[in-house]
Amino acid sequence: MLFGLLAGLIAVLVPCAVFTEAERNFCYSIVSKVNRHTNCGVDWSLPLTEEQAQRAISCDHEQCDEPRRGDPVAVFWAGYNDTACFRIPTVITSHTGTLLAFAEARLTSCSDDTDHKLVLRRSLDGGTTWGDLIVAVDGIVPCEGCPASVSNANPVAVWLQGGRAAILLHFNTLNNPTQLVHGVAMQIWSFDDGLTWEGASVLTYPPVHNIGGLIGPSVGLQADDGTIFFSARQPERGTFLYWSSDFGASWRASELVPTDEFGLDECSIAWLRNSSDGEILMNCRTRLNERALMTWTADGLPGRVTYPGLTDENCQGSLLNAGGAHFLSHINSRWERAHLQIHRSTDGGKNWTEVRKVRRGAAAYSQLIELGAAPRGGGIRLGIIFEGGTWCPYEVIGFWQFTFRESAARRTALSVDSPA
Ligand SMILES: *[C@@H]1O[C@H](CO)[C@@H](O)[C@H](O)[C@H]1NC(C)=O
Ligand SMILES: *[C@@H]1O[C@H](CO)[C@@H](O)[C@H](O)[C@H]1NC(C)=O
Ligand SMILES: *[C@@H]1O[C@H](CO)[C@@H](O)[C@H](O)[C@H]1NC(C)=O
Repeated sequence: MLFGLLAGLIAVLVPCAVFTEAERNFCYSIVSKVNRHTNCGVDWSLPLTEEQAQRAISCDHEQCDEPRRGDPVAVFWAGYNDTACFRIPTVITSHTGTLLAFAEARLTSCSDDTDHKLVLRRSLDGGTTWGDLIVAVDGIVPCEGCPASVSNANPVAVWLQGGRAAILLHFNTLNNPTQLVHGVAMQIWSFDDGLTWEGASVLTYPPVHNIGGLIGPSVGLQADDGTIFFSARQPERGTFLYWSSDFGASWRASELVPTDEFGLDECSIAWLRNSSDGEILMNCRTRLNERALMTWTADGLPGRVTYPGLTDENCQGSLLNAGGAHFLSHINSRWERAHLQIHRSTDGGKNWTEVRKVRRGAAAYSQLIELGAAPRGGGIRLGIIFEGGTWCPYEVIGFWQFTFRESAARRTALSVDSPA
């Protein structure tokens, strides 16, 4: 405890980012080892009842920084459906208005490298109640001796030729691959609003060779001309954008932006302006403890990487273009997985102001979603699905919705690292 506090204090006073790359990695390894919020993941196991899960994700115990109407709803939790742990949530709205919340069901422990399924729950009432668990993808063993850890549910609702609606899900076999021991990137379809899944196939996206890696974890995008986009990273190689101009039949990739140089990882994508021109804004976690931002042309040419001063724990976050602005959910701390916040930018990502503190306590991965115009008083409805808990961020995946109104936007200096 004392050691943890001391290390935390050192981490706040002397951020790892001031060191050289080799020292920095050592610094992070120390910080994450003593940091309970980050490091509880693997050994920890705690089956919860639904009631306990709901309490764990609520605003009780001073988990929220501000009074607000409505607690988050527990969607997945340790112990739900006899599953040890759920992680890596994403959420989309289908073309019929159903919310689909996806996660990795980690069957026996919270570890990245054990047997996982990709699962979802559907909500027909805008996120208040959620249906039974559905398995989208069962475990697939990609190489001899490898675990069947299908990972990273990246969904997108798409229109196909002739106006048929479908849900396309991109995912990886094998978490944390290396160039020697790896899986592949794959896709699977649902033509009945997420109830059943079919047509799993391995992707090819030349000129990048499919050796798996990590897609998102995020949601895909479909432009007005039908082009579908995802972002991904390959082990030890780089980050890239890939897209399909024939409704998912074939894919092409951009060049690889080296991860070594920038530490770009787990990128989330949103339209730079809107779905009309295909230009994309990308936001990534980095080892610099600051979130990186870059733009892409519709032809997949990367722009310059910038760092607009958004703090990060090297944890996944999510970017959303809604109501003519960009919203970013991320961990606003450089040393613990806690302080999940939402910032907003009205100038394409150059300047950000804080709009919501989602959770003060343990929290990690998240995905923002637009839920439509607010029924009264102007503004837009936004939702966020996120990992959180009372002690460990991987106890519960909750869904919280709120109204954002420009007039009520909080004007707070960006990336202030609030003490725990
Ligand atoms: C638990 O998961 C199975 C699929 O593995 C599903 O058939 C069943 O309906 C689920 N139960 C609940 C209560 O969601
Ligand atoms: C989308 O962005 C383009 C380029 O900025 C603009 O000309 C167009 O009016 C926008 N469309 C919508 C529907 O906002
Ligand atoms: C917005 O960002 C730009 C570029 O980073 C910077 O020059 C400018 O001062 C910022 N404006 C405000 C109001 O912070």
